[in-house]
Amino acid sequence: MSHTPTPLIAGNWKMNGLGASLAEVTTLAESLKSEPAKARVAICPPATLIERAARIARGSAVEVGGQDCRAEAAGAYTGDVAAEMIADCGAGLVILGHSERRSGYGESDALVCAKVQAAIRAGLEPIVCVGETLEERRAGRAVSVVQSQVTLSLPDDLHDKRFSVAYEPVWAIGSGLTPSLAEIGEVHQAIRATLLARFGDAGGAVPILYGGSVKPANAAEILAVQDVGGALVGGASLKAADFLGIIRAL
Ligand code: PGA
Repeated sequence: MSHTPTPLIAGNWKMNGLGASLAEVTTLAESLKSEPAKARVAICPPATLIERAARIARGSAVEVGGQDCRAEAAGAYTGDVAAEMIADCGAGLVILGHSERRSGYGESDALVCAKVQAAIRAGLEPIVCVGETLEERRAGRAVSVVQSQVTLSLPDDLHDKRFSVAYEPVWAIGSGLTPSLAEIGEVHQAIRATLLARFGDAGGAVPILYGGSVKPANAAEILAVQDVGGALVGGASLKAADFLGIIRAL
């Protein structure tokens, strides 16, 4: 049995994009039709665009995801979006535990874990984000912080589900800074070891994405690092041309 994960390259639009931006999804879908990608490709637009993006992407190689969800399925939570709602809009994936949620909204590993369970209940494939701060890296704690986040953010119910883990050093997000290839490799191997210990052989088939200032110029070398199974891309996913430059680097 082969455990080489199918790579996943996912674009996180964050709070960017209006209806007109969906032209980028059309361009992406058409390009992947004429030249198929070596990875699964997903776009995670803001919640307001999920349904329209999913309609455009239908029948193409582009998958659509949400950026976060509430752990509860329904109720009095003004402004929040449930996993079921994201799935109902036609999305198949959801990003959870992004550092902008962990730091900006005080999301703990336990809450991220509950959101992952909600995503599974709704039939969504979670992309679970982890990553150390600059202080933690400087203190030599990057690997232990990330391993702890992986352990505590992933529920046991994932053992027979499709999901991915995204390693995104907090200090590399939107900053133009990236860890060295050796540093990326070290953390990805530690995440792989944690997944294998937790889920057995199935842990070998989980794509471990790298995220944080991935661009066309650095994508090839990052994607070639052992145990890097794709990328989670922020800024460079907003324009199809840039995102395609990353996709084609594989
Ligand atoms: P960036 O964001 O590519 O703009 O650094 C990555 C992310 O936050 O997922």
